[in-house]
Amino acid sequence: MAKHTVVTMPGDGIGNQVLPESLRVLKAVGFDAEYIQADIGWECWRNEGNALPRRTIDLLAKHKLGLFGAITSKPNKEAQAELKPELRGKGYVYYSPIVTMRQRFNLEICMRPCIGFSGNPLNYIRKRVDGSFDEPGFDEPKIDTAVFRQNTEGMYAGVEWTNPPEDVRGALATHPKFKAFADVAGPDLAVSLRIITRPAVRRIVTAAFEYAKKRGFKGVTICEKPNVVRETSGMMEETAKEVAKNYPGIALWSTNIDAQLMWLNKNPEDYNVIVASNLFGDILSDAFAGLVGGLGFAASGNMGDEVAVFEPTHGSAPKYAELNPPIVNPIAMILSAAMMLDHVGEGGKAGRIRRAIAEVVKEGKVRTYDMMRIAGGGKAISQGAASTIQMADAILGKLN
Ligand code: NAI
Ligand code: MG
Repeated sequence: MAKHTVVTMPGDGIGNQVLPESLRVLKAVGFDAEYIQADIGWECWRNEGNALPRRTIDLLAKHKLGLFGAITSKPNKEAQAELKPELRGKGYVYYSPIVTMRQRFNLEICMRPCIGFSGNPLNYIRKRVDGSFDEPGFDEPKIDTAVFRQNTEGMYAGVEWTNPPEDVRGALATHPKFKAFADVAGPDLAVSLRIITRPAVRRIVTAAFEYAKKRGFKGVTICEKPNVVRETSGMMEETAKEVAKNYPGIALWSTNIDAQLMWLNKNPEDYNVIVASNLFGDILSDAFAGLVGGLGFAASGNMGDEVAVFEPTHGSAPKYAELNPPIVNPIAMILSAAMMLDHVGEGGKAGRIRRAIAEVVKEGKVRTYDMMRIAGGGKAISQGAASTIQMADAILGKLN
């Protein structure tokens, strides 16, 4: 029997192109695992009225380890229109299967590393005072940041209304600041609650500090907005200070989300570990990913007490999904698989994968279209771009 069982969920669109490439790489490093493919995504919604079927939840509950590609999501009206006719008008509501999965298994720790590979033409470089530029690969900023995003609460808790019911309006009216909105007609009023709980903050901040300790970093930055969003961001900052006391050698820094995005353009290399609530963490991790190659390089892990699911942060890119050969960059998916190895205590194998990717990127001979800054599409290959498979082959070549 294999040592690990991994539930693979390719999902929709390019998820089906990149996930199989990550499995080839996992096999090449000798990861002792059995893979069980599970259904998720748009086809499940259309045919079953549920994008995350029970059978997939059961597999995840049983095996506790998932590798996920990407799914397609559409606004509710389109979702209803695409349901198969027998299911229409029966009260099915579309929910994002990823958000559901995170909530169902309390995958509260989302880790998104943004680590620049030397020689990547997409890396952020800086203009010097004399007008010249940092030399790529030589003095460009070395970005090595992991964003720890609280994955289940905050603005994505899902407690929201347009035209809130009377008792909710009544409760809101007890707050003096609600006076300004008291006369707004129900259908013109939308409310989304930002919910933060102290134990969850404690856990995400602890995960960030543990990572800083493991990597030998000097500090952790909590990125919120406590001066304005005083209750929720305030609780986050206060709790982070408590947690920081357990890590005397590691500093706790604090930035505001707006300022942080400005620092990102000035000195991103100064931030190694950032912790934030759900929405801010989502924004920050995409912004950091943009400095190290963008969606083709952005990996993530969603971790709970029992279950963990690893996925690239990109979506299903439907416009490229039908191309043959496929052209999208499999590195984000392969890096996500490497994070899965770290998680199960196979850090050595994960390191081998990252070194192989680093070599391919540095050599610069094999580049997918995104790394060439050319338009994606049917012509990319004839313009010299590597296909998804050729990129994976190049990485495999460095492993052997
Ligand atoms: P997307 O991430 O699918 O694609 C945006 C653009 O980024 C693509 O057109 C492509 O140019 C580029 N891109 C994405 N992945 C790439 C890769 N591996 N290599 C090279 N280039 C890559 O986001 P979009 O277009 O906003 O959404 C498409 C669908 O995906 C929607 O239905 C959306 O709801 C869903 N989505 C799903 C996510 C998930 O499964 N975690 C996350 C984001 C979007
Ligand atoms: Mg996002």
